[in-house]
Amino acid sequence: MLVFAHRGASGHEPENTLLAIERALAMQVDAIEVDVHLLADGELVVTHDRWLKNQPKAIKRIRDLSLAQIKSFDVGKGQAIPTLNEVLECINGQCLVNIELKAERTVIPLMKIMDEAFDKWNFQPSQFLLSSFNHHLLFELKTLNSHVNTGALTASCPLDYAAFAKRLDAYSVHIDIDFVNQEFVNDAHERGLKVFVYTVDNEEDIVEMHHLGVDGIFSNYPTRSLVKIAHLQSQQVPELNPMLANSNI
Ligand code: G3P
Ligand code: MG
Repeated sequence: MLVFAHRGASGHEPENTLLAIERALAMQVDAIEVDVHLLADGELVVTHDRWLKNQPKAIKRIRDLSLAQIKSFDVGKGQAIPTLNEVLECINGQCLVNIELKAERTVIPLMKIMDEAFDKWNFQPSQFLLSSFNHHLLFELKTLNSHVNTGALTASCPLDYAAFAKRLDAYSVHIDIDFVNQEFVNDAHERGLKVFVYTVDNEEDIVEMHHLGVDGIFSNYPTRSLVKIAHLQSQQVPELNPMLANSNI
């Protein structure tokens, strides 16, 4: 079960900042998830909300701001909202990156950044997973580059389970923990899709996801998840090999 640092190690550092990314890398996570919005001047930036939070004197919508304007805001611990380029430079191929598209018109600038990423940094194509709740954006991505890995997000358990993700030729389906169940996981797996579940921080939830057989979880506290998963996996050894269970290895 993979662990995605959700918005970086956002339980420890301000979400979607370089500090949160660096903290996640230090934890040796399998993957880092970040949210992406488009600025007025065409730059992609890493932030979750469409509005700047905690800026009472200057409440602004992200898409109306320039890069220069956005860089003047402190989103916690002296951190500015990073550009996607800054985040990719920081990760530099050290783990898988899940870029979640939060806004319209993000596909073309994202494709341009990804094209350059392989020359500028140490990424392999398989290290990018592009996701969105807006399935039209995923369709657009696949139309422009059929090789790109996409993840179809859902906050529901549809009647035909993961069929929507298969129709999009997605690599994975990313589902809210409130709606995932065994039928959904089985259906996705039968369709050849990976199942990644958000947001899983509670230890009992981690155990439940392990038993459902999901392929990965998004966590705000990645170390907690990594330790719990390692423990769960070590518990499987006696079941597989009773001889080892009785040894001192
Ligand atoms: O990509 C998984 C998760 O991040 C989706 O929801 O609102 O946290 O971006 P949200
Ligand atoms: Mg997200």
